[in-house]
Amino acid sequence: MHPGVLHRRFLNDLSTSLFSFVLPLLPTSEELNVKEEVRGLIEKLIKTLEPSARLLSFGSSCNSFGLRNSDMDLVVLIDDPNATIDAGNFVESMAALLERETNFNVKPLPRARIPILKLELAPSPALPFGIACDIGIENRLAIENTRLLLTYATIDPARVRTLVLFLKVWSKRRRINSPYRGTLSSYGFTLMVLYFLVHVKQPPVLPNLQRIMPMRPMEEEEVMLEGRNVYFFDDVETLRREWSSVNFESVGELLIDFFRFFSHDFQFNNSVLSLRAGQLTKESKGWVNDIDVGGLNEMARDRNRLCIEDPFEVSYNVARTVTKDGLYTIRGEFMRATRILTQRPDRAVLALAELCR
Ligand code: CTP
Ligand code: MG
Repeated sequence: MHPGVLHRRFLNDLSTSLFSFVLPLLPTSEELNVKEEVRGLIEKLIKTLEPSARLLSFGSSCNSFGLRNSDMDLVVLIDDPNATIDAGNFVESMAALLERETNFNVKPLPRARIPILKLELAPSPALPFGIACDIGIENRLAIENTRLLLTYATIDPARVRTLVLFLKVWSKRRRINSPYRGTLSSYGFTLMVLYFLVHVKQPPVLPNLQRIMPMRPMEEEEVMLEGRNVYFFDDVETLRREWSSVNFESVGELLIDFFRFFSHDFQFNNSVLSLRAGQLTKESKGWVNDIDVGGLNEMARDRNRLCIEDPFEVSYNVARTVTKDGLYTIRGEFMRATRILTQRPDRAVLALAELCR
């Protein structure tokens, strides 16, 4: 058979295999219900401390990139402008309350840079893996970036969700999804995929939601939150009606191209990935490796190896956890993935299994 035909067949096979690969890894409705119940219960308790408090989910439980048994990310928002609350103290009060009133194993971190409360629930029949949950205070930007990710997913769920979910599983199995061990968070990998679909692919698979300005108002939209412009075009109905991509590549093709781009084309040494603004230079952001720290602070030197600009908190490098070794490993994994997917494997399922070994 002609090599072109064989290749076509492999790509079709790869796309189908990707869908079947992620499907059984999605959370069950039972799991989602239990988690929602848990959120409601904790919210009720927290309201006894501060009546104007609300408890919201963010991260993978509501950005449509959730996997089975993922952690829950929760945040307390306090709506009463007269309530003066210190995050550290509030974490301590919550810890005491939840320790007394629930079965959770409670671990407060009130003095961390961002104070949080960690909760764990032992496994049960409805939740064979238990629950792990982090509760933060007043982190409103996280709610907004979760909504941004969700809106991107909603535009083209078949391609966007499949790619992100696959990359999350792959990065976890290959052990490069551990911000505490020098590699990258799921949030970072997700921003890489969205950057690729908005700025690298030509024609783009997704529009830049932070650059679409509605026709009506004359001036550029600005929605300020904590000193950041958190505006993005979130009118999904209008997007569905008026925007459609002319890029018809399959999810399999996009995956191969994603790995290829980050193996060979992206300039990790001097470029910054910005979902908001496209490719930027480290120099223009002042994100250069600080080689003058004189060995005093190895971490500071490692801070800007991989640079991914947060969509709203633009002075924040989401990938600041990635060390020199971490980046080396991540790039090695991109190359390995490219190799596995382009060395004309017979069967896509086997290639995916090998990829995630
Ligand atoms: N977040 C952030 N800055 C980071 C990491 C995370 O603001 N450096 C926020 C984002 O709002 C993100 C949420 O925390 O959506 C959860 O991040 P993460 O746990 O990395 O992603 P999840 O989608 O929850 O993935 P997982 O299923 O692996 O937990
Ligand atoms: Mg999470």
